[in-house]
Amino acid sequence: MSDKIFIFDTTLRDGEQVPGCQLNTVEKIEVAKSLEELGVDIIEAGFPVSSPGDFNSVVEISKAVTWPTICALTRAVPNDIKVAAEALQYARHKRIHTGIGTSDPHIRYKFNSTREEIIERAVAAVSYARKFVEDVQFYAEDAGRTDNEYLARVVEAVIKAGATVINIPDTTGYCLPEEFGAKIRYLMEHVDGIHKAVIATHCHNDLGMATANTMSGLINGARQAEVTINGIGERAGNTALEEVVMALRSHHELGLDTNINTHRISSVSRQVSSLMNMPVQPNKAIVGRNAFAHSSGIHQDGVLKNRESYEIIDPKDVGIDENSIVLTARSGRAALKHRMHVLGVELEKEALDKAYEAFLRLADRKKEITDDDVLMLAGEHRQNHRIKVEYLQVTSGIGLQSVASIGLSIAGEKFEACASGNGPVDAAISAIKIIIRRQMLVKEFLIQAISKGSNDVGKVHMTVEHDGRQYYGFSANTDIIAASAEAFVDAINKFVI
Ligand code: KIV
Ligand code: ZN
Repeated sequence: MSDKIFIFDTTLRDGEQVPGCQLNTVEKIEVAKSLEELGVDIIEAGFPVSSPGDFNSVVEISKAVTWPTICALTRAVPNDIKVAAEALQYARHKRIHTGIGTSDPHIRYKFNSTREEIIERAVAAVSYARKFVEDVQFYAEDAGRTDNEYLARVVEAVIKAGATVINIPDTTGYCLPEEFGAKIRYLMEHVDGIHKAVIATHCHNDLGMATANTMSGLINGARQAEVTINGIGERAGNTALEEVVMALRSHHELGLDTNINTHRISSVSRQVSSLMNMPVQPNKAIVGRNAFAHSSGIHQDGVLKNRESYEIIDPKDVGIDENSIVLTARSGRAALKHRMHVLGVELEKEALDKAYEAFLRLADRKKEITDDDVLMLAGEHRQNHRIKVEYLQVTSGIGLQSVASIGLSIAGEKFEACASGNGPVDAAISAIKIIIRRQMLVKEFLIQAISKGSNDVGKVHMTVEHDGRQYYGFSANTDIIAASAEAFVDAINKFVI
């Protein structure tokens, strides 16, 4: 029998902190339900005191899911803890996650405090949280750079105060696998009462070591892995759920396993990537589109003779079904609905009708509709924008001045403008600026093809600066000039209300 590793998913908290990845409450509920179906043990649903939106999301996720524990983040501050307890009131299984920085740089520069005072504040936070819930997780922020002897004192004190789970974050992604594993082992061997609590790893990927560090932590005694789908998260991201789960599944000799239904990994990965507009790099382990693609002749020959020659994981085990029904212009609404369901998306009838019309238009231009296309269509029909692009006509070419004429509808009223530019995108954006008279600067502009082929859908990610703040816009279209104009308008919709 394997030892159980608890999977704590923080896609909706640490993952969602990434600029441009913000989800609304409805989208967060969709992801939370998918995480429940995936078999995640604990869902970190947000940081309730940080905003009314986060508070509300924790409330609604608590109502929407049944089995996983719902966790809410706090600082070691009484009001944070009180607000988190309120947000968790509907959760069937609830956990407060409180903590404080324990490394010398945190103690000195962030808190202007002393080691002793930090232990007092940690103990006070845990004791206060225990007044509201039985399950209290403590995080020692920047534990990766905290000296082991002091860390052991902090951990011992908070376990005595009632902490049930101890999170050891490598907040800055600094540790090497051997060093992180040794840290966990040190705590297992030197903390009185360590067996009363579960030790958790929470590794960031700044040096590309997040999964290796997590595995090393688990091998040395940690029994909870904190992860995100696709490894999204601050800076270089967090440990990827799919990597840890499949590493444990592939290495039975470790005697460690999770409750994850691996067949759902691929669809949750796509759902999160699509909702958060965060593309998965093609060579990403387990969920990248090349993760199981064998291109060299020698490899193809080997795999055809016996899959195990070059594959350590059967793609079907992570939900990649090469024989899944291909959607084309002849597919009906039911086939589209089914595909969306498989991908974890449920649309109301009206939104599904609109998505189906858009699907038929796309299928006219593209031979085969991929899962990414389907998720893109589903995303479009969830949005309810006040400003919409009605039409766009562009002339451009070698030796020609680019000129765009655009029609926008703003709350149902029609506006038109025409402008020239140093290329078709510049012309389209200049025309939009004639209608929307605000100070707006395109700070970032990324065009990306979803898969392959000149008839493919292009995704555009854009960051627009307005009034000192940055707003994120996204669109996808087989016409990349149209997608660029739509992404610009998507960003504008976030500040022109
Ligand atoms: O990386 C980190 O230290 C965190 C804590 C808040 C758990 O995300
Ligand atoms: Zn983190």
